[in-house]
Amino acid sequence: MSRAAPLRLVILISGRGSNMTAIQRACLAGELNASVALVIADRADAAGLAAARDLGAQTATVLRGKGAEALVVFERELGAAIDAARPDLIVLAGFMRILSDGFVEHYLGRMINIHPSLLPAYRGLDTHRRVLEGGESQHGASVHYVTPELDAGPVILQSRVWVRPQDTEAALAARVLATEHIIYPRVISWLAQQRLKWHDGAAWLDGARLESPIVEDFRAAVP
Ligand code: GAR
Repeated sequence: MSRAAPLRLVILISGRGSNMTAIQRACLAGELNASVALVIADRADAAGLAAARDLGAQTATVLRGKGAEALVVFERELGAAIDAARPDLIVLAGFMRILSDGFVEHYLGRMINIHPSLLPAYRGLDTHRRVLEGGESQHGASVHYVTPELDAGPVILQSRVWVRPQDTEAALAARVLATEHIIYPRVISWLAQQRLKWHDGAAWLDGARLESPIVEDFRAAVP
């Protein structure tokens, strides 16, 4: 059987970039039929930029100024940098900026994100703290298609972990992050294998519309 061409990825980050690194490593290890064409950060001090270069990726920085006009300029520059890299898929990996509806619509079906909660629960920021405050027994992460409404696009795959009575925010975040590094490359591999598709505003896996996300249970597995 002929192998499809590697999926070209552009990865957007704002900070540490550990999800980006996990994806890059999976590409380099041949676990994923994909290649990282470009890593873009919206902060010059994003630690992930050096990590990306260490693994051989091209990097770019697109900064956003203050005010509404600056958003237009930022998205124009960001879109130009993305398009010049000719990606098949745009991967938001800890990219902490809200994108305009028009920008998201332009890349609809070609942009995915990872969010540290079991969506639709706990959209937005500070998910680990809010999960602890909410007395939840379980938590996790979600990989989803990006649509204009924040953290509300069709969810593809989720990881689930237990919340432990002695958990601190940092301990819980670390346990969830370890699962992110597994599920994010996995979703990209499904796309690279053309098993996962965007169609009719929904995610389809192996020819069937995903009516609810696939959930991978790490409750016993994550130390
Ligand atoms: C990850 O936990 C990711 O799920 C989260 O930021 C962290 C980035 O870590 N993303 C969001 O909160 C998006 N709303 P990383 O830079 O080490 O990949």
